[in-house]
Amino acid sequence: MPQCVRFESKFVPSELAASAQTLRAQALDLLGGVRDGTCMGSEWTGWFDYPARAGWSALESVEQFIRKNDTFFDLVVVIGIGGSYAGTKAVADALTHTYAHGLPRSSRVPVVFAGHNLSEAGLLELMDLCDRRQPMINVISKSGTTTEPGVAFRILRTYLEKRFGEREAARRIVVTTDAKKGAVRALSLEKSYRAFNIPDDIGGRFSVLTPVGLLPLALAGFDVRAMMNGAEAFFADVRGIPVDGLLKGAGGAAIEYSCLRRAAWDAGKRIEVMNFADPKLSGYAEWWKQLFGESEGKGGLGLFPAGFLSSTDLHSMGQFLQSGPRTMIETFLVFDNPQPQGGIERRIGIPSQPGNADELGYLEGRHVEDLNGAVTLASQLAHADGGVPVFQIRAMRMDEYNFGALFAFHETVCAVSALLLGVNPFDQPGVEDYKQNLFALLGKPGHEAQGALLRRRLGG
Ligand code: PA5
Repeated sequence: MPQCVRFESKFVPSELAASAQTLRAQALDLLGGVRDGTCMGSEWTGWFDYPARAGWSALESVEQFIRKNDTFFDLVVVIGIGGSYAGTKAVADALTHTYAHGLPRSSRVPVVFAGHNLSEAGLLELMDLCDRRQPMINVISKSGTTTEPGVAFRILRTYLEKRFGEREAARRIVVTTDAKKGAVRALSLEKSYRAFNIPDDIGGRFSVLTPVGLLPLALAGFDVRAMMNGAEAFFADVRGIPVDGLLKGAGGAAIEYSCLRRAAWDAGKRIEVMNFADPKLSGYAEWWKQLFGESEGKGGLGLFPAGFLSSTDLHSMGQFLQSGPRTMIETFLVFDNPQPQGGIERRIGIPSQPGNADELGYLEGRHVEDLNGAVTLASQLAHADGGVPVFQIRAMRMDEYNFGALFAFHETVCAVSALLLGVNPFDQPGVEDYKQNLFALLGKPGHEAQGALLRRRLGG
């Protein structure tokens, strides 16, 4: 079995590589702490090795639910924000035909997202879509009290109850939330919604391999067993890292990358750009941004995660990468086989044409994907020449297995990187601050004093 995720230092100054080398023992020690549940924030390390510990039984209950309910819906609406939806969107965006809305229906059920913003127009348009479909709604909230998904859920619940009546609406709603607390749990008990638990020891942005991602992806027809297998392969690889610290396999790659990120911080780098050359990976980049931004960015520390879509951004942000402030590192995400799995493998070659007015004759017969690979190489060389350290993460192909492995890889890199900076990867005090301010400004009972304080600051 080939290694599930590979990491390469493509163009890295020797001082950076040497400084990363000195961090290996510490990084391995910190990884050991994540593995044994003794690191900082250890009460949130349940995501590590989750497939082997509890993932498969969680998946079986998801599959059981789907077997009983797979006949009456043709649209999945996921309501959630942050870690409650970003992983599902990453897989759905990558593995759904870009123009599915204009094509005859496929074996997959379309999945759409709400509750990650408060756009009134967006909600109205979603109800227009629901009017033409038979929707199933999966509301996902670990705390069960977040305002944006709470508002979207109330609106869509009311819509379903009006359209189908309370009983049928309850059949079309499934919740994923904390086992005991929060408004979503209370509502599920009151209205008899089917409920799945988010494990106590797994926080939102580390939860894609739990029912948070498994349920909506399975409802939509994605191969979540393969996704779990990919994650399991990665964690098995991490377990295989020998105690003498000889780095090998995908687990070794995670350690090497974490050390380089920390060495980059010490060398004055402040931004990590993820460069990907297919818009299908935009959702994955969004998931990655949340994972690293919310985990590392604390106490004045952390690399700011920024997504960069090639070739699009080469013709806009590319200038900044080439010669803006030299505070960036760049990590390319590439696939050996970039075609999303499913269906017959298809290629487009550059057609031959009489004459050569467009001056592209020299490309005749070459595949577009090869040209895209050349774009990656050309930008790596240019950015390295511009003084940006360049790394590369490689997966085999765009499918559920590889996304499972990538999720597990990035979660591990994120935890070890944050710990190397001395940061607790698993809390998010900054996000909580905004959530509390929003409660106060909207007048939520219990937040009156804070509300008065904020209004005074705003001059009201
Ligand atoms: O990673 C996190 O903890 C956050 O991004 C949460 O996922 C996000 O704030 C949503 O919270 P909740 O699931 O409690 O509604």
